[in-house]
Amino acid sequence: MKFFIDTANLDQIKEAHDLGILDGVTTNPSLMAKEGITGKGNIMKHYKAICDVVPGDVSAEVISTDYKGMMKEAGELADIAPNIVVKIPMIKDGIKAISSLTENGIATNCTLVFSAGQAILAAKAGATYVSPFIGRIDDINWDGLQLINQIAEIYAIQGFDTEILAASIRSSLAIVESAEAGADVVTCPLSSILGLLKHPLTDIGLEQFLADHKKGN
Ligand code: G3P
Repeated sequence: MKFFIDTANLDQIKEAHDLGILDGVTTNPSLMAKEGITGKGNIMKHYKAICDVVPGDVSAEVISTDYKGMMKEAGELADIAPNIVVKIPMIKDGIKAISSLTENGIATNCTLVFSAGQAILAAKAGATYVSPFIGRIDDINWDGLQLINQIAEIYAIQGFDTEILAASIRSSLAIVESAEAGADVVTCPLSSILGLLKHPLTDIGLEQFLADHKKGN
């Protein structure tokens, strides 16, 4: 299972990378804006800075919504670094673009996926990753994990190679549940990754070990 961090914040990316467990990064236009990165030149430079820190896959999203525009942007993004994965929205022209990019050997992440039908289309187009947004599904009182389960079952039955990237994860528990549901990758904020470390019995046990060691010396 792969761990991606879902942020454009370089400090957090470096902190996660230093843990030695980071396999990649996902970004989106909202996350870039949150860091105050605006304008094409700055955005491209920021992707390069992220790729310089993380050798694994870095998802960079297109802004165009038409086939021609997406293909042009995808080429520019892919030229930044060999580990760029072009993030394409789940729309008609997006599927067309994913098919063409796959034929050209460019890795893709099909984003804004909310149904099994959309996940089938992404896989048929040859997407490297499919990103079901589980948190946003839970937000409207549907079951995000159930979707991960369903996609995992369909991909296994059909032998699709596309990796299931559980996105819009906002808790440590959702990481564990996504792993259990069959996600190949989780992408989440640093806080959710660090939350996996926590257990009160670990803290109590360590405190005891250190106290006993002190007594013995
Ligand atoms: O990876 C997708 C993610 O950035 C969306 O998360 O919390 O905005 O639903 P969220």
